[in-house]
This record gives sequence, structure tokens and C-alpha cells, in this order.
Amino acid sequence: MSFPTILVTGGAGYIGSHACKALKNNGFTPITYDSLVTGNAEAVKWGPLEQGDIRDRDRLKAVFAQYKPAAVMHFAALIQVGESVSAPALYYDNNVYGSYCLLEEARAAGVKQMVFSSTAAVYGIPQTNLITEDHPKTPINPYGNTKLAMENMIRDYAAAYGINYAILRYFNAAGADAEGDLGTAYKVYTHLVPLMMQAADGEIPEMKIFGNDYPTADGTAMRDFIHVTDLVDAHVLALKHMQADKGNLTLNLGTNKATSILEMLSAAKDVLGKPVPASMFPRRAGDPPVLAADASAARATLGWTPHHSDIRNILATAWSWQHKLRAHGRAGALSLTRFKEAS
Ligand SMILES: NC(=O)c1ccc[n+]([C@@H]2O[C@H](COP(=O)([O-])OP(=O)(O)OC[C@H]3O[C@@H](n4cnc5c(N)ncnc54)[C@H](O)[C@@H]3O)[C@@H](O)[C@H]2O)c1
Repeated sequence: MSFPTILVTGGAGYIGSHACKALKNNGFTPITYDSLVTGNAEAVKWGPLEQGDIRDRDRLKAVFAQYKPAAVMHFAALIQVGESVSAPALYYDNNVYGSYCLLEEARAAGVKQMVFSSTAAVYGIPQTNLITEDHPKTPINPYGNTKLAMENMIRDYAAAYGINYAILRYFNAAGADAEGDLGTAYKVYTHLVPLMMQAADGEIPEMKIFGNDYPTADGTAMRDFIHVTDLVDAHVLALKHMQADKGNLTLNLGTNKATSILEMLSAAKDVLGKPVPASMFPRRAGDPPVLAADASAARATLGWTPHHSDIRNILATAWSWQHKLRAHGRAGALSLTRFKEAS
């Protein structure tokens, strides 16, 4: 098979754009299908960009007909937990109805393989320190509910219509492309690592730490940070697994290890060469003390090993990306159309 095309929904976003680069490096041609609601056209460098919304079935139909993709990688979603609480209709429409439209058009086009971005948010409050894939699925916010609904829809389609799937549940995605081609580029950041970078550079007054009374060694919450390059490597392996007809997958992607917020701050001080201003605030409702993947199934099934997820490497790649953006006068200025309108 030569240069099979892969339709990448959300390919202009943070993780999707890194996936496009990994696909290209592995002999695939990524076709980005993205509404640019939070993504950036500038991040689409490894194949064509087809601007469109996954809820636009006519547009999807035309793109499937034009490129005849061998598979779909489905990253497109709205991803902000807080916004999903205040605007659940937006999330069900964009994420769940959008995924239904995508599945229907993929089915009509005869596309049988789908890799899907799921999340640790499907588990809700963890009952164990390391979460395995069979942990109960009880999301605690609309974002997690939409992701679980999308997972279930894909499994139901697989059972009835014979598609193959790889559902990949990420823990905390972080870091940036080591060659400096890609990274996060939003106007408003909500994830820990970019917020740390902004606080270190004085773009925001400080980083807020929510809770210092958790039952952890230093009292701050602990998370499993997985480098975006490791994440997308797993996607390529999952795609190859499906192409070899080795069956459907539901896998956690993480490092089997949690790092506390204070540990991150301490590592950041070394890597960035300056302290990150931070203040303590009360816990937020629904934030679990520890969230960490048991990712041994991904290792065993895909032969996947996260090589880039050392915390210092995550911080170093994110830091050099932020400085590259800044050097181009683009810090915080790339995209997030919705936030542009709001600000
Ligand atoms: N970032 C994380 O830590 C994390 C963790 C777990 C799971 N995920 C999942 O990974 C995926 C990618 O997340 P990300 O961090 O790259 O977010 P992102 O916001 O950078 O990327 C999402 C992309 O999807 C596009 N999009 C959204 N709705 C669309 C629609 N209706 N039609 C077409 N395009 C649309 C956006 O424009 C954007 O380019 C999401 O599905 C998210 O749920 C992310």
C-alpha cells in the first residue's frame, strides 16, 4: 500500500497536528478536516487542510469522496470541562452529534477504521491509584459524558456495521514537538504546563494551585503527564494494528506514574531557569487527588513505550515552543476564534 490517506478530524489542533506529522513520517498522507473553532491553519503542515465542521454532512461527504481515506483519526472535539458544565448543549451538539455525522459519512464512504481520542475523564473519580481500562466509567462532567457517549457510539457501530476501532484514553497531554514545528497555541490556556510557562514569563500574574490538602505526599494533586509525541506515536501504532486486522482496542495512554503540582513547579524552576510564581487556592469540586494510568495494556498490545514523557523533557519542549511563538510575536495570538470573539 502506498501513502494511504488518513482523514484527521481536528488535525489543526494541538494533538491532531502532532498526529499529522507522525502520520507523514510513517508514510501516510494526513488530510486535516477542521472547523478551526480552536485549531490553527498554521499548524497544518503535513498534508492538505479541508476546512469544515464534522456536523456538516455534505462537506464531509465531499471530502470523503475526494480523498477516499483508508481510515479516520477523530480528534475534533470541544475539550474544556468548565465550559461543558455551563454550556452542555454545545458539547453534546459538537462532540456527540458531530461524531454521529462523522460515523455516518464514514459508513457511507465505506471507511472501516477509526482511531478515536478519548480521555481519562470517562472514569470520573478514580477508585484506585492506577486506573486500568476496566475501571468503572462514571464521568463527573458533561465533557466526560460526551466522550463516553462517543466511545459507546463507536462500539455500537463496530458491532452492527463491522468497523474497526482504536479508542485511546489520554491522561494529561503536555509538551511540544522536539523539532519546534508544533505546540499549543491558544489565546486562553487552561492546561497546567502552558499556564506555568505563562506565569514564568509574566504573561499571567501567577499560576493557581487548587488544593494543598490532598492525601498526597506534598498535599497537591498528582497527574499523569504524557508527552504529545508519545501520544501520537501510539496512534500510528494503533492504526497499523488495525491495518493488520488485529482487532479492536480500548487503551489508556499514560506513564503509570503521577507527578504532583509542586514537583512540576520544582522541575520547572530548574528547566526554565527561573521560578514560576504560584499561589494556593481551595480545591475545585470534582478534581481527584491522583489521576494516573495503568498503561500496561498499550505497552503489551502495541509494543508502545513512552520515550519522551520525562517531566523535564515535557517542560523543556513546551518552554522552547512558547519562546518560538513569542519570537514570532505570536504568543497567545494564534487562533481560538471563540475566545477572540469573547475578548
Ligand atoms: N489535551 C488533552 O490533555 C487531552 C486529554 C484527553 C483527551 N483529549 C482529546 O484529544 C482531542 C484533541 O484535543 P486537543 O488538546 O488537541 O484540543 P484542540 O482544541 O487543540 O483540538 C481540537 C481540534 O478540533 C477542532 N474541532 C472542534 N470541533 C470541531 C468540529 N465540530 N468540526 C471540525 N473540527 C472541530 C478544533 O478546531 C481543533 O483544531 C480531543 O478529542 C480531546 O477530547 C485531549
